[in-house]
Amino acid sequence: MRRATLAQAPALASGAVTDAAEPARARLDAATAGLEPPFAVVDLDAFDANAGDLLRRAGGKPVRLASKSVRVRALIERALGAGLQGILAFTLPEALWLAGHGHDDLVVAYPTADRAALRELATGSARERVTVMVDSAEHLEAIRAAGASAAAPVRVCLDVDAGWWPLGGRGPRIGAKRSPLHTPAAAAALAREIAARPELVLDGLMSYEAHIAGLGDRPPGRLGALAGAAIAGMQSASGRELAARRAEVVAAVSAVAPLRFVNGGGTGSVERTAAEAAVTEVAAGSGLFAPTLFDAYRSFTPRPAALFALPVVRRPSAGVATVLGGGYLASGAAGGDRLPRPVLPAGLRLDRQEGAGEVQTPVTGEAARALRVGDRVWFRHAKAGELCERFDAVHLIRGGAVVETVPTYRGEGMTFL
Ligand SMILES: Cc1ncc(COP(=O)(O)O)c(C=O)c1O
Repeated sequence: MRRATLAQAPALASGAVTDAAEPARARLDAATAGLEPPFAVVDLDAFDANAGDLLRRAGGKPVRLASKSVRVRALIERALGAGLQGILAFTLPEALWLAGHGHDDLVVAYPTADRAALRELATGSARERVTVMVDSAEHLEAIRAAGASAAAPVRVCLDVDAGWWPLGGRGPRIGAKRSPLHTPAAAAALAREIAARPELVLDGLMSYEAHIAGLGDRPPGRLGALAGAAIAGMQSASGRELAARRAEVVAAVSAVAPLRFVNGGGTGSVERTAAEAAVTEVAAGSGLFAPTLFDAYRSFTPRPAALFALPVVRRPSAGVATVLGGGYLASGAAGGDRLPRPVLPAGLRLDRQEGAGEVQTPVTGEAARALRVGDRVWFRHAKAGELCERFDAVHLIRGGAVVETVPTYRGEGMTFL
């Protein structure tokens, strides 16, 4: 029988009142009774189940861990132990730091202009374990200027745009504004420049379809069904175009130099991206913590694993309880979906005027009436790893108890972004 997670997914997904909500709250409160909020927890049963689900969805293709979506070394190690392979790091200093802790197969997912870190890479011992992202001749030149040489070449990965240009570039461009390399010809041209530079080795190719992997097709709200249908339509048209183009890009680049890996996708597109023959591995990270933005997908339902507890510190009126802290907003275009969500006790809402505050956050709704000073309110963050920039440590819960407390990147003094 599958072990029940401490906080059952349905009880936490919406913060709505369900039969499972009060037992889930009681379990979380009991497991952490000795802690003073604010604090963050990760439910290991949910985390492990989510890791297993990502691997299942990948259907046998390797899943590379997007470390930005975890930012806790102990949990990165746990995910790798569960079967994820390799790390998609978010900055070069982070990748060098992880290499120093014994990790290998580190791909930095975003280009760097950090001269000191590039110098350390080019001249240090991590060179064979870290691959840096490039999409232009400027990136190649920065690596050469940092001291890369034919005797000690630096590994690079080509970042290719995964956006959808329905009118062939003359109209709207759908997708994140990242790499300028869109066509097979453009990718092959940069691959040739890399091949012509003895101080570089072309290691891999990455193209991340943010508009598919990071955009839920089951958005909440009054017009959710309509918006969801439009998103799903866009995603399937874009997915078809991308699969064909990605195969052509990989063929064109492979004709210049062999590729060790072709990376694509993210938590929201694991099965779709893994199904492409040209893709050798998918990336994922957010699906481990399962923040609220990942409630909005039709094809999978991860279990909320990361939560934070805030203490009620005052009662402005009978229907309002105010907790300490809470203004942990997620990055991206500002909107209600970037706010943390109070989930336990069930039936709480943020205040429309105040949202989640810098130092205090009022919560309303029926459940607020019963809250007393000193009670906890449990929240979920909208995104995954960003939560860890707010806490020095996370308390790991298993089987109804805190089994370990581990530092976040921040707790180790490492703030990369
Ligand atoms: C390059 C790249 N790959 C993959 C991902 C997917 O990560 P996650 O599964 O955490 O959404 C991201 C997220 O932004 C990304 O930037």
